Amino acid sequence: MGAVEVRDGFVALYGAAPDGIWSAPGRVNLIGEHTDYNDGFVMPFALPHTAVAAVSRRTDGVLRLHSADISGDAVELRLDELRPESDKEWTAYVAGVVWALREAGHPVTGADIHLASTVPSGGGLSSSAALEVVVALALNDLYELGLERWQLARLCQRAENVYVGAPTGIMDQTASACCEDGHALFLDTRDLAQKQIPFDLAAEGMRLLVVDTRVKHAHNEGEYGKRRAGCEQGAAQLGVDALRDIPHDGLDEALARLDDEEVRRLVRHVVTENRRVERVVALLEAGDTRAIGPVLSEGHASLRDDFQVSCRELDLVVDTAVAAGALGARMTGGGFGGSAIVLVEAADVAAIGKAVEEAFAAAGLTAPRVFEAVPSPGARRLDPAV
Ligand code: GLA
Repeated sequence: MGAVEVRDGFVALYGAAPDGIWSAPGRVNLIGEHTDYNDGFVMPFALPHTAVAAVSRRTDGVLRLHSADISGDAVELRLDELRPESDKEWTAYVAGVVWALREAGHPVTGADIHLASTVPSGGGLSSSAALEVVVALALNDLYELGLERWQLARLCQRAENVYVGAPTGIMDQTASACCEDGHALFLDTRDLAQKQIPFDLAAEGMRLLVVDTRVKHAHNEGEYGKRRAGCEQGAAQLGVDALRDIPHDGLDEALARLDDEEVRRLVRHVVTENRRVERVVALLEAGDTRAIGPVLSEGHASLRDDFQVSCRELDLVVDTAVAAGALGARMTGGGFGGSAIVLVEAADVAAIGKAVEEAFAAAGLTAPRVFEAVPSPGARRLDPAV
């Protein structure tokens, strides 16, 4: 659904034109998985799929929320009654941002919001970060808060961690807020230093396919938190602030100091994954784009065997695509379902997509959703152009 429909929906619902219209994208992560809560490196880019929100200010302490994607009336909440972990619906992502802004001392006095999203939900493509960021950007503009993009991302992460109750890192919100058209974002999650890396696969005769397995992932159901706790345990045992501090050439020595096999596997993944991000950045900067393929596939093996966050469907995508001639493939996002990315020669798009679809059909699985991902703009205001 486009900006015009969202604006018209707002008018029909609330009886007046919105103060403005904003959009924020979902993302895929090219490389750097489960590194963000270890102060490590990530490299997402924005998808063309976005959450679009029409928003107006209110001055009476009321928040009205409505999504075109969900049937039912607008939900009405009082700002002074917002309580962390009290809401298990989609509205928590939006109300959580308002809560986080107010808790940080920003004078937000209410809003009417109508939104719609084209980011597949539960597909590991950051549909929740898109919702958070679109609302944060809108309120930042409307209330003239003057917050920078990275600060909005931090507030959105706090909304998700504390208000929603999901212990996620900073990657998704930063990707949605800070990515740029035609680029992947090389992000150091320790200090949020950013480098925009040109990423134009089409110009080099390649494509990146996203395969949404349609297996729903859920971060707040425990496994994500367990991995995170295991990483923190490893860092504590190794006497460092975060696993980011273990250099790649110090990995063997670090592993020798750990006695728990599970913690050793988690540490090995994080340390090697940070290295893979650096390798991908170096290859892209050297113009050696095809050579990132095997690094992506190595990353998948590490997530599958060491971090153990893949699943049968994600492995099937990766194995099938690579066997059918893909340059590389890996799961993307938190795992336990969601999506995989597949790097392919442009000429092989149809054949590899077909091979994956046939493999799913042969295994009796729900047909996956396959689409091409192009690095797209980050969050932005859409009016008055609309
Ligand atoms: C989810 C989280 C991110 C990150 C990834 C794994 O998408 O929201 O913070 O941890 O999983 O890389």
